[in-house]
Amino acid sequence: MEGNGSCKKKKVCVTGAGGYVASWLVKVLLSKGYTVHGTARDPWDEKKNGHLGKLENASENLQLFKTDLLDCEGLSAAIVGCMGVFHVASPVPDKNVHVANPEVELVEPAVTGTRNVLQACLKAGVNKVVVVSSAAANMVNPKWPMDQDIDETSWTDIEYCRSTKNWYCLSKTIAEKEAWCHAKESGLDIVTICPSIVIGPMLQSTANASSLHILRYMKGGREGVENIEFPLVDVRDLAKGIVLLYEKDEAKGRYICSSFGLRVKELVEKLQCLFPDYEYPTSFNEVQHINSWKLNSQKLQSLGWVFKPLEETLKDVVKDYEEHDLFAS
Ligand SMILES: NC(=O)c1ccc[n+]([C@@H]2O[C@H](COP(=O)([O-])OP(=O)(O)OC[C@H]3O[C@@H](n4cnc5c(N)ncnc54)[C@H](OP(=O)(O)O)[C@@H]3O)[C@@H](O)[C@H]2O)c1
Repeated sequence: MEGNGSCKKKKVCVTGAGGYVASWLVKVLLSKGYTVHGTARDPWDEKKNGHLGKLENASENLQLFKTDLLDCEGLSAAIVGCMGVFHVASPVPDKNVHVANPEVELVEPAVTGTRNVLQACLKAGVNKVVVVSSAAANMVNPKWPMDQDIDETSWTDIEYCRSTKNWYCLSKTIAEKEAWCHAKESGLDIVTICPSIVIGPMLQSTANASSLHILRYMKGGREGVENIEFPLVDVRDLAKGIVLLYEKDEAKGRYICSSFGLRVKELVEKLQCLFPDYEYPTSFNEVQHINSWKLNSQKLQSLGWVFKPLEETLKDVVKDYEEHDLFAS
């Protein structure tokens, strides 16, 4: 991951620095000697962002900037002087929490936010931008052949998302399309990464939406759990993948980032084997789900991306839940 990218080491900006994925990204960047400007809506909120100051090299090389994705001036102040930008911030709702106004709460910050970040990058003369999209922007595609793995040529169907009220997938798909549209018009060098469900230890103090998925399968012994696809990637592998895309000059286009494709029932069986003392679902419902394709990360792997064994991730996830006392709450 060093190689020809070392000339790009200097100052970079990470949007939404205190979030789950971004915190691991900031940690990797600081450990590699980058100076990092992080954006946060409230940098002084200890609960949300206090962990960032404790990262190795943070006291010398991390500076937080207060800004919202809809605040162009705030974004510019954070990005000016940076050679690279990692656009990570975007609303990620917990699927159990009702989103009253999805256009305002999800779509606008994701889409206008992406446009504002890229506009600020252009103004500041940034060399390269890595945009964190999602496999949510690849996978909801009813026209994709059933017998073929999903690769980077697959785009989620926006109209289908609207009709099924799949607002998160809609927000991520329109935001990524916006990024490519902007890059085509402006000539800005961008790469996008599309991770599947991200799991693994948390650096922040409160649990983010995707960290709760596995916890829910280990609590309560529910019946009739939907046996849907559960493609996943370890947050630490994802953070390294994001930096790899930044450092590799040959990285171009979209990159799916997913280590394992398995169904919920298989995942539960693996957890049950490793941790027999928890309360697992007692029955599963087979569903003909639209997301029943496997994701193909070959393009990212061909750049040198590697990932941890599933067992290691699952052990670390459960240890992390215990340390955060999440089984009790
Ligand atoms: N976790 C997954 O399974 C997964 C999978 C695929 C892709 N992704 C993508 O990865 C990125 C990070 O997700 P995550 O799991 O780390 O979620 P997270 O912990 O909830 O972090 C989201 C970040 O976005 C920021 N944000 C949200 N709305 C904002 C707004 N209006 N203005 C400014 N900042 C805003 C939040 O800032 P505050 O701290 O100020 O709230 C937070 O830092 C997102 O782009 C997400 O779509 C995640």
